[in-house]
Amino acid sequence: MNNTYNKIKVTPVSRFVGAEVSGVDIAAGIDDEQFDEIRRAFVEHGVIFFRDQDITPDQHVEFAQRWGAINVNRFFQAVETHPMIAEVRKEAHQKTNIGARWHTDHSYDEFPALGSLLYARAVPSLGGDTLFSSMYAAYEALSDGMKKFLRGLRAEHSSRHSFGDQAYVGVDMDDIGGRIGNIDGATQEVVHPVVIRHPLSGRPALYVNTEFTLKFEHWTEQESKPLLDYLYQHASQNEFTCRFKWQEGSMAIWDNRATHHCALNDYDGEFRLMHRITVEGEALSAAN
Ligand code: SIN
Repeated sequence: MNNTYNKIKVTPVSRFVGAEVSGVDIAAGIDDEQFDEIRRAFVEHGVIFFRDQDITPDQHVEFAQRWGAINVNRFFQAVETHPMIAEVRKEAHQKTNIGARWHTDHSYDEFPALGSLLYARAVPSLGGDTLFSSMYAAYEALSDGMKKFLRGLRAEHSSRHSFGDQAYVGVDMDDIGGRIGNIDGATQEVVHPVVIRHPLSGRPALYVNTEFTLKFEHWTEQESKPLLDYLYQHASQNEFTCRFKWQEGSMAIWDNRATHHCALNDYDGEFRLMHRITVEGEALSAAN
């Protein structure tokens, strides 16, 4: 891949995942050449970060549409004026946050989301960082024997256990406070290869995640659990990750097929509000 950039500056933040992109003003508009470079940086680094962007919800939507059609989230509360934007909100009195477990967005869909554009509107004075992990690096670090074995497997993903009625057993609904809903819409069940061929880079990437993967196809949950737990622990080890510290006006755009992410919940008593737009993806094929 050509990794020379003329219209933007790209500074990697860790060995395997994440880069800060500067020289971009989303509100002022992005020409095609600059957008091509931003897209290239996204494919190269899995997640890209922008600072000091002062954008309206309309500009957020317009920028997201450059990446593809918007995939409206079924379960998160939307911004009242902009149904295409999902709110990732935590009030100062609330205890649970959204996205606390390692996951990739919408893997329960037949055509899982290409990526997500998360924009910080209000951040705590300290904490509330997001961790990202490279699923290329996680796959690459496995033994040849394990790689070959996993390439022959597929896994079931579902939204039912995360957003259906089972998800709310024993949960304090006052604390949820309407941030997540549409229990009846949690009907998605799908099977994806455990190792995908990334649609843009062509590289093999591990594609099972803690939040939405249920089990391997034709295996029981009990049989699947030990190997899935091993893969989750393997995929989230520090060496494959980077950590993004938000400021108001920061934006992260991550590739849902190449990375996992996890939102830290270490800011009790403070308010955090992010706007998220998720972009449509495509069917995933197995790596050879
Ligand atoms: C998410 O999982 O989409 C939210 C991430 C975050 O709030 O940092």
